[in-house]
Amino acid sequence: MTDNHRTQRLRKLRSRSLLGGGLERIEAQHKKGRLTARERIDLLVDKSSFRETDAFVQHRTHDFDLDQQKFLSDSVITGWGTIEGRLVYIFSQDFTVFGGSLGEVHAEKICKIMDMAMKNGAPVIGLNDSGGARIQEGVVSLGAYADIFLRNTLASGVVPQISAIMGPCAGGAVYSPAITDFIFMVRGSSYMFVTGPDVVKTVTHEEVDFESLGGAAAHAETSGVCHVAADSEADTLYLIRKLMGYLPQNNMEDPPFVQTSDDPLRMEEALDTLVPDDPSKPYNIKDVIQLVVDNGQFFEIHADYAQNIVVGFARLGGHSIGIVANQPAHLAGCLDINSSDKGARFVRFCDCFNIPILTFEDVPGFLPGTGQEHGGIIRHGAKLLYAFCEATVPKLTVITRKAYGGAYDVMSSKHIRGDYNVAWPSAELAVMGPDGAVNIIFRKELEKAKDPVKRKAELVAEYREKFANPYIAAERGYLDDVIEPKETRPRLINALEMLNNKRDANPAKKHGNIPL
Ligand code: HXC
Repeated sequence: MTDNHRTQRLRKLRSRSLLGGGLERIEAQHKKGRLTARERIDLLVDKSSFRETDAFVQHRTHDFDLDQQKFLSDSVITGWGTIEGRLVYIFSQDFTVFGGSLGEVHAEKICKIMDMAMKNGAPVIGLNDSGGARIQEGVVSLGAYADIFLRNTLASGVVPQISAIMGPCAGGAVYSPAITDFIFMVRGSSYMFVTGPDVVKTVTHEEVDFESLGGAAAHAETSGVCHVAADSEADTLYLIRKLMGYLPQNNMEDPPFVQTSDDPLRMEEALDTLVPDDPSKPYNIKDVIQLVVDNGQFFEIHADYAQNIVVGFARLGGHSIGIVANQPAHLAGCLDINSSDKGARFVRFCDCFNIPILTFEDVPGFLPGTGQEHGGIIRHGAKLLYAFCEATVPKLTVITRKAYGGAYDVMSSKHIRGDYNVAWPSAELAVMGPDGAVNIIFRKELEKAKDPVKRKAELVAEYREKFANPYIAAERGYLDDVIEPKETRPRLINALEMLNNKRDANPAKKHGNIPL
């Protein structure tokens, strides 16, 4: 064979591999409004940066005449590329080959790039579009899934792992994305469930369609499984690129610094009047976030889930930060089961990857009720407390208004290793709100009062004057300072830079036992 022939052979094999399951199936994929595995990779990574691995891999199964159907690359495309010049490892399931189903070699390809990601310290991004375990391969495909689950678990906290659900993701297959750090879903064309509509109908007699059972809206709003829901495949991939900009490559690195045009000394007068005088009136904490962070840019995570807490990424003076904020505009900013889970998971992600945490606090306490108590608010609330306690990254806290009860301690208070804790003059730090407190401590006096309504109003006013302010806490050093709202941005940037070399550690242990 001449060199020319050899090259021709290589090129022929390469083009066969690039065709995946063939033109007909590619067309069928496009007809469903979906891109192919390779088209998705092209949108995800920097132009021409993708280097494919294992393009010549084929399955080894003979059962069910599968040896008559072989496709180069099998049903997943793997390799590496760059996002804004930074290395990422990628796998993208190819629905045009056996419906993207996962068998032995499919899993081997994924495991190979995951192992490379771990050795070389770079994130893994998985684009999921699969009919699940390859039925013809039986238990081998179940074992193959387990090989991936183990790697997902071992990689957790070492390199960021991002999953995008671009089509079906069913059965036990959901557990690989579920172990990763963030799940993105495409509205209207992706779904995830452990058991599909048919099984649901057989077992529970419920009639439910794919979208309502496991579509992006169901998981972004109700279950909380989905962190970011986007309107199209292109949007989903664009948002993953954006997210990567806030993250370090691995747990040994700091997140990337990005020079900002936004003045670090910028005073923001609008903050001075943002919190209403009436403490029962809501305001939108996202307005505070936008006015403080670089260029008002906030990458929100879980935007539609447990909206009483807001979490996401932003930059302060060019430094990447994670923000956790009570949202007075939703359930008055109360902490409940779902918001505790949401906040805890986010705090732990930031701590894994050296991302400082900024907490905005306006919390009237934990949500009361049998639903919450019987649902385990004690256990779930403890997760958020535990997550803030164990975090050793720089922790900044701004109390904008209410910091009541146990929630005061939980929300990154000084006592649990907050590094820079400040309050606005509108802050109220107390065991509970004035109304509830007066009802309890002055019950007997109020029962005897000639005009209980008038007396209660007086007592509430006295209590507010005495306790519902930041100065008792500041007197004790529980707050490092009380600041004017307008100076929040410069103060935080200054503190963040002061904490640049922070070193703190937890006692040596195998791992802690977070109340799951
Ligand atoms: C082998 C599969 C497959 C699978 C789909 N295909 N799923 N081949 N194993 N799991 C093949 C189809 O035979 C078909 O081949 C091609 O992929 C496209 O599938 P269609 O059904 O034509 O596509 P569509 O109508 O879009 O339906 C997609 C689908 C459906 C909803 C995903 O294919 C489906 O229900 N598949 C089975 C899903 C499932 O129950 N998987 C097992 C889950 S349990 P041709 O040659 O006709 O193009 C599981 C356990 C994991 O995954 C456990 C881990 C611990």
